[in-house]
Amino acid sequence: MSDWFTTLDGLHAQVWQRLGRGVADRRSPSRQPTLATVSPDDWPEARTVVLRRAVPTDAVVEVYTDTQSDKIASLTATPRAALHVWEATQHLQIRLLADVTLLQGDDVSDRWATLPEVGRLSYGITPAPGQPIADALSYAKTPDPRRFCVLRLTVQHIDVVHLGDDHRRAGFDRADGWAGRWLSP
Ligand SMILES: Cc1cc2nc3c(=O)[nH]c(=O)nc-3n(C[C@H](O)[C@H](O)[C@H](O)COP(=O)(O)O)c2cc1C
Repeated sequence: MSDWFTTLDGLHAQVWQRLGRGVADRRSPSRQPTLATVSPDDWPEARTVVLRRAVPTDAVVEVYTDTQSDKIASLTATPRAALHVWEATQHLQIRLLADVTLLQGDDVSDRWATLPEVGRLSYGITPAPGQPIADALSYAKTPDPRRFCVLRLTVQHIDVVHLGDDHRRAGFDRADGWAGRWLSP
């Protein structure tokens, strides 16, 4: 059997396998991807997040955040994001381009219910994330389900680079049913 990285189908399947592993395994590199957005004044912005869900059949991934974090204003202005992962052991760079839907309230109460108390502390900090404070620890964490937001990323494009003995790169698009095509690396 050929190695997974030698075929387009193999690469595409590996992307979703790694993302699924990221959701399930805290030590997986895909657990903590970089999420990039465009700020309301057109600056690129990137930050580490935790990957919470990956659904290969729908090509959807989810990330949780605070409704008052700056990325919400960015995504409201430009509801698009990029997600980046470097899987060093697999020699695999994964880049996703996605449309983003913001889900809150009743739509995400099932996710809130599964969060442990310590996890809920990330949603409800006062003052809001990014606000100036007098001292480093002059803030309070009070879990608030109204501050809990799920970023639902509907993936439109996947770019994969595999750096093995040979370098391979491929692009996959929702628009053509994820058939994929080889790209010069
Ligand atoms: C390891 C790690 C995991 C993080 N996970 C999340 C996350 O899942 N959601 C989130 O909103 N911020 C997460 N953060 C914090 C963000 O990187 C960022 O500092 C915060 O969301 C504010 O970003 P913003 O001002 O661009 O909205 C994480 C940070 C680190 C270092």
